[in-house]
Amino acid sequence: MKKIGVLTSGGDAPGMNAAVRAVVRKAIFHGMEVAGIYHGYQGLINGNIENLDVGDVGDIIQRGGTMLHSARCLEFKTEEGQRKAISQLKEHGIEGLVVIGGDGSYRGALALSKLGFPSVGVPGTIDNDIPGTDYTIGFDTALNTIIESIDKIRDTATSHERSFIIEVMGRDAGDLALWAGLAGGAETILIPEVPSDIDGLVRRLEQGYERGKKHSIIIVAEGVMSAGELATLLKEKADIETRVSVLGHIQRGGSPTGRDRVLASQLGAKAVEVLMEDRGGVAIGIRNHQVVDYELSEAFNKAHKAELSMYTLSQELSI
Ligand code: F6P
Repeated sequence: MKKIGVLTSGGDAPGMNAAVRAVVRKAIFHGMEVAGIYHGYQGLINGNIENLDVGDVGDIIQRGGTMLHSARCLEFKTEEGQRKAISQLKEHGIEGLVVIGGDGSYRGALALSKLGFPSVGVPGTIDNDIPGTDYTIGFDTALNTIIESIDKIRDTATSHERSFIIEVMGRDAGDLALWAGLAGGAETILIPEVPSDIDGLVRRLEQGYERGKKHSIIIVAEGVMSAGELATLLKEKADIETRVSVLGHIQRGGSPTGRDRVLASQLGAKAVEVLMEDRGGVAIGIRNHQVVDYELSEAFNKAHKAELSMYTLSQELSI
């Protein structure tokens, strides 16, 4: 291939810029040209495309967000939209595409590949919910942002002897809640992968209060219910007073951690290698510390699995 394109799509994630930089520099290093496609699939359909040079991706490795901007695009879900996108790619002399994003972005890359346009998916989402890769770009940074918030909330929880419910992102996956809850020493973690036992939660909290515990931190993944709903349930069931904190989009921002920068660099570069071999319909990932590539369709055939031993451990350690 002589020229490839790169876009970021869906919810942004810290480390996406580092991945864009890796794609651009790896491709140029190997003699290819690179086009940056702005505003995700919508920008692709609209022809929002510009060539990128080595210097265009300078000074971005440390920045959160994505210099290419991101969007969620309904038109691209139709075959007509996908064909328009392919026409734009061809008009710009682009022969292969790197898509950095989550689940929805992968569906787009798979659709393009099925229509004959070689596309490669690089996992960029804070949710860590892409089957086939142990980690996604952005997960580690978001995790650390949440931990920092839990630590701060714990200070006020201790001072005022209050219980807090902290709602974290993750869409249908509980990884952020699970990892952050374990790392933040939460008393209780609610994740979609484990059926919620609200009566059990009430018992745990009451036992804690009986033992003299004056505060506790409950982490709830947004895929289970909202923190507000949980607070109402606890109040109605057992007259337990809580304060609610919804971390929201703060979890998506900030400078990527070292881990996310390294991961993004490795996975972005690997995507270029795959396109250099004229392969499409491929997803890039990391398994047991090894960079791997696999069929994009695999990312949909298997379900993402949370590490449930961590859930058990968190319960054992929060007695
Ligand atoms: O997929 C990333 C994510 O931040 C999810 O955790 C969350 O459910 C969703 O995106 C929020 O999307 P939006 O920014 O479009 O509200």
